[in-house]
Parts: sequence; C-alpha cells; structure tokens
Amino acid sequence: MAGRIIENEEVVPNVRRLVLEAPQIARRARPGQFIIVIPDEVGERVPFSLADWDADAGTITAFYLEAGVSTLKLSRMQPGESVHALVGPLGRPTVIKKYGTVLVGGGCYGLGAMYPLVRAFKEAGNRVVALMEGRTSYVIYNEEKVREVADEVIICTADGSRGIRGHVKEAFEALSEEGRKFDYAHFVGCTYMMMISSKATEPYGIPTVVSLNALMVDGTGMCGCCRVLVGGETRFACVDGPDFDGHKVDWDQVFSRLAAYVPQENLAYQYLKCREAGSVRASPVREEVRP
Ligand code: FES
Repeated sequence: MAGRIIENEEVVPNVRRLVLEAPQIARRARPGQFIIVIPDEVGERVPFSLADWDADAGTITAFYLEAGVSTLKLSRMQPGESVHALVGPLGRPTVIKKYGTVLVGGGCYGLGAMYPLVRAFKEAGNRVVALMEGRTSYVIYNEEKVREVADEVIICTADGSRGIRGHVKEAFEALSEEGRKFDYAHFVGCTYMMMISSKATEPYGIPTVVSLNALMVDGTGMCGCCRVLVGGETRFACVDGPDFDGHKVDWDQVFSRLAAYVPQENLAYQYLKCREAGSVRASPVREEVRP
C-alpha cells in the first residue's frame, strides 16, 4: 500500500531515514525531485527531497529533521503504519549533464538528498567531489552511500572535530585556494548554507544550482505558497524548481517567506511536546495541532 512505512529510523540525533512503500513514485523518480507527505488527517503537507528509490522493491527514501508538529508526528510513527497521504515525484528533475568536475555540497537533510545527485552526475561522466557538512562529526550521515558513487568525499564540520573546519562555503574556499577547479556546483540543504555557498562560487564564475526548500501547500503550482524571485521573476519552487540558479535567487525574499509562520509553528510544536510530557491538557491553539 502506497505510504506504508518500511523504516523510520533516527540515523543521527534529530535526523531520520524514512523508507516508504511507493511503487509508482519509485518507478518514476528522478534526481532532484521531491515528495509531499501528510502524516495524519489533520497534518500539514511537508515536502521532502528524495534521497533514493528502488523501483524493484517499490520503495522510496527521504531524510527529515524533527522540526515542527508534522515531523514530530511523523517521527512517532512506526513501521507498518501508513502516512495519511503521499504524492510525488514532484518538481523538475535536476538537469544532469557532463560538465567536467562537479562539486555537490550538502548539509542537514541535504546529506541524504545529495546522494542521487552525486550518483547521476557520476553516471553522466563527471568527476564528482562531494562536500558533506555538519555541526560536528557525529551528525554526518549517509557518508558510506555517497562514497560509493563520488570520486572524492570531503567532510567539513563547524567545530573542526572532523575534516575541514567550517561549512561547505569554507571547504569550497579552501579547495579553491589550493588551486582546485570546478565546472559546476550544486548545493542542497539548509537555506543559509545554500546562500553563502552560492555567494562563494559567484566570483569564480562557477555555474551554481541550489535545491530550494520553500514552504509548500499543494506542490503542483496552484497555491502560490512556494513562490520565489529568481532573476527578478516570480517562479514557483514546486513546478519551476526546486532547482534554481543560486546566483540569481533573491535570498532575502526566500528567508522572509520561510519565516512567515515561525511563531505559529513554534507555538504548535511546543504545545505538542508539552502534551506528550503530560504538562498541558487544553489546547491554546487550533485543534489541528493535536497528535
Ligand atoms: Fe503551491 Fe507551489 S506549493 S504553487
């Protein structure tokens, strides 16, 4: 049954690997695409980048962080249960071509989402360098999978506990200072990482694509929730993206739209956590946040 949970395992603190039964999506998935999951009947529609798929087994894989009500609910679901709704594959696939030397940088959920990109760029004949970032060494995950398909994997950590100290941006700058050249860069992960990494590649004239993680509702171009400004034009991340030219994205607008519901999201999330702890009974917010 589509949407049945095969695996929902925490791989590093606060990041889970979600494997879902979804034969139709697994047959059609391409690198760079995403799914929308609604955990329960009153849940939000949450977009997740596809991290892998297996057409023979009829399964798809995504990684997610517990960052709000819906992902908290999802994290509590067990193998054998089914999500309320699942749709995909959505979005335009990443344009995969032979560029030469390709840099794929990922962090956060992007450590999962970068795998099919690295694989596809490699299959297209590129030399692929994968930059994997984390706050510290023990939050790096999916490294073995990426190593299977990348020519080179470079780890960077904000606290310097492993690899290059810093983020993808600092690692890229360190490699560039060594004289390394890249013909194309692709970044996937948290918005801040994608922004500063794009700004870092711009002076070098490296074509740079980012996989934007906009807020979404329908995921099919009908609601306008995911709109972004790219090169001065309004685009919908769900149907025109999620990939866009990182040098043309209006990052201020991306951040401002992502922050639109943060107070409500935090309130709902804290309320649900308190309910789980048994410290509140009556809802101060909409009934929809009930688990
Ligand atoms: Fe509604 Fe993109 S999510 S238009």
